[in-house]
Amino acid sequence: MKEKLEQLKKEVLEKLKVIKDIQVLRDLEIKYLGRKGELTLLLRQLSDLSLEQKKNIGSAANDLKLELAEKFKHAAELLESEKKNDFVDLTLPGEKINRGRLHPLTIVQNELEDIFTSLGFMILDGPELESDYFNFEALNIPKYHPARDMQDTFYVTRTNTDLTRTNADKTASDLVLRTHTSPVQVRAMQKYGAPLRCVVPGRCFRSEATDARHEHTFYQLEGLMIDKDISWADMKGVLEVIVQRLYGPETKLRMRPKFFPFVEPGNNGEVTCFICRGAGCRLCKQTGWLEIVGSGMVHPNVLRAGGVDSKVYRGFAFGFGLTRLTMLKYNINDIRLLNGGDLRFLEQF
Ligand code: FA5
Repeated sequence: MKEKLEQLKKEVLEKLKVIKDIQVLRDLEIKYLGRKGELTLLLRQLSDLSLEQKKNIGSAANDLKLELAEKFKHAAELLESEKKNDFVDLTLPGEKINRGRLHPLTIVQNELEDIFTSLGFMILDGPELESDYFNFEALNIPKYHPARDMQDTFYVTRTNTDLTRTNADKTASDLVLRTHTSPVQVRAMQKYGAPLRCVVPGRCFRSEATDARHEHTFYQLEGLMIDKDISWADMKGVLEVIVQRLYGPETKLRMRPKFFPFVEPGNNGEVTCFICRGAGCRLCKQTGWLEIVGSGMVHPNVLRAGGVDSKVYRGFAFGFGLTRLTMLKYNINDIRLLNGGDLRFLEQF
């Protein structure tokens, strides 16, 4: 009898484990615990046993009945709650999904890329961790030349254990975080040769104290056009088209001399302030003009570094402060907001 009870318990518990349907569960409960159920019939047989056996087995059988009844109750509750969780109310409104958006810098970058590709310029990329050679030397800024002071950077020391390098090599800072996108001028000439028309948007770094207009990390957009018979007038023509597409057809561009070691002559390009239209306001500091692009005719030393014959080809280059253009476009008064990652700021665009 004891064995029969054990066997029955095992059987019921195994079946309970796999039941997924409430009706099947109820049928099973009747099969074992119902009036004519298997356990009920076993309990009835107790009367045939001796008094001693009745005492022993009788209480074990009653305990089992109570235990199994409890298990059935628990299993039923579980199935009921699962059924509730399965319920999908199709009439409920959908959950709001937060959508990302473009960073203001990306919006302005895309806009400029569209304008330049429509003029036949290709879009290039270059390394942010750049060699001292491409960032400075190939751009006509030799080591220890005072022109290096114009752009202080973060020097990076290699720490690898290349055994072919001398100790002096290992500590020499031959890598820098690029201070401008101009190194890609030389990389592009070396890769594609002349003629060439390209723009290079990208991140730049400078070791300088930050304030509302200066960051250690900011974006520029470089441009380069090389061909035979390219003149300064071509440069002004292209830049004029760009600024008029950016700020409207009535925008004027003026070029003022500025020294950059990698161009000759070099210029600062200024546009009529798009807020006051040249009359003078707070944004343009009452001058009527906004400084937005450095440019000039590519220096022959730079053409040579790029492997381009400076006797046959000439070109112009320019560098927009992409971050500055973005600040102007959206009237952002502190550059640090752009890298701050504050969603309250970013969600406005
Ligand atoms: C240059 O970087 C030159 N490579 C531009 C150039 C290219 C000239 C090709 C001629 C030919 P400059 O140091 O002036 O030039 O920087 C260009 C623009 O980058 C600036 O007008 C400014 O808008 C932006 N810029 C420079 N430093 C910072 C900074 N710390 N934070 C934010 N923007 C900066």
